[in-house]
Amino acid sequence: MLFDYIDGGSYAERTLAANVADFERMQLRQRVLRDVSSLETSTTLFGQRLSMPVALAPVGLAGMYARRGEAQAARAARSAGVPFCLSTVGVCSIEEVAKAAAPPWFQLYMIRDRGFMAEVLARAAEAGCPVLLFTVDLPVGGARYRDARNGMIATTAVQRLAQAADGLAHPAWLWDVQANGGPHTLGTVAGSAKDLKRLVEFFGWIGRNFDPSITWRDLDWIRERWSGPVVVKGVLDQADARACAEAGVDGIVVSNHGGRQLDGAPSSISALPAISDAVGDRLSVIVDGGVRSGLDVLKALASGARACLVGRAWAWSLGARGEAGVVHMLQILRQELLVAMALTACTDVALAGGDLLV
Ligand code: FNR
Repeated sequence: MLFDYIDGGSYAERTLAANVADFERMQLRQRVLRDVSSLETSTTLFGQRLSMPVALAPVGLAGMYARRGEAQAARAARSAGVPFCLSTVGVCSIEEVAKAAAPPWFQLYMIRDRGFMAEVLARAAEAGCPVLLFTVDLPVGGARYRDARNGMIATTAVQRLAQAADGLAHPAWLWDVQANGGPHTLGTVAGSAKDLKRLVEFFGWIGRNFDPSITWRDLDWIRERWSGPVVVKGVLDQADARACAEAGVDGIVVSNHGGRQLDGAPSSISALPAISDAVGDRLSVIVDGGVRSGLDVLKALASGARACLVGRAWAWSLGARGEAGVVHMLQILRQELLVAMALTACTDVALAGGDLLV
């Protein structure tokens, strides 16, 4: 059930598939006989030094994939020298992650209760979160049919039984997460999530509390309350990207929420070049959706991104082997990026541009 929640997308999963397929279709130019003995992968983003242009995307409920999952992933990110972004709907709270590893980037969903939102922003600032990602592509939830089919959204007694059987079939998970990984709440928003009795009611809670009336004015509201960099996540359209630049935000994430929202929307990597051309000189353009390897990271940079977020890659790694799994995934990504740079004769990620692509 949790694997499908991570793996799946909305409706027929066409956009999810396109996110991956459009990366696969791209071709890198193989170049030879250039000195590639020294390769620079580090970069600066929002005043922060990153060992490579990658960050862990906000992924909800990670504490259900492994015991205190957000804290484990944040430690892995810290040891790899890349940022970890904590979701509003993480199991671990901002404070728990900050204490376990380092102050995370914080991802904000707009919840109806603005007084509570202001409190959450103040807590993120107090904990030292350096960057705020404001996710705007979920004013309403896209239907994910896998979750309905496999009982993640259990509404009937039969589905609840199926859910229990799923749990019993995974004793290692039962021991690691269910028995020893509590409390299973949404750490950061627990104060406002009193109507969320069990995590299976998660989607209902989102429906009741996420605010579909958000507009550009709410972005101003956030900027009045957050002095650090603000990044708008979920931009797929040039007109919206321009509006972000005009609003003076520090960055955008070109994203379709990993194909989990509007099925039929273009893949992120196909939307990236035009958006980067339109606003890349005014704000930092980041991309996510379909990044599965270091080759993809280089393709994204060549298409105009300053950095990529990876979502499922770390969620799967966490579920498989916890912190060690995420550390290993980031090592693989880095190694693949280095080889891709060497074989395209790109000696510094800062130099990656359209000339790397066929
Ligand atoms: C997400 N994503 C997401 N985004 C966000 O802003 N807040 C959130 O809480 C979540 N939760 C979430 C859960 C799961 C299981 C997934 C897979 C994704 C979207 C995420 O930040 C990112 O945009 C995508 O995951 C990027 O696509 P890839 O790397 O998964 O292909």
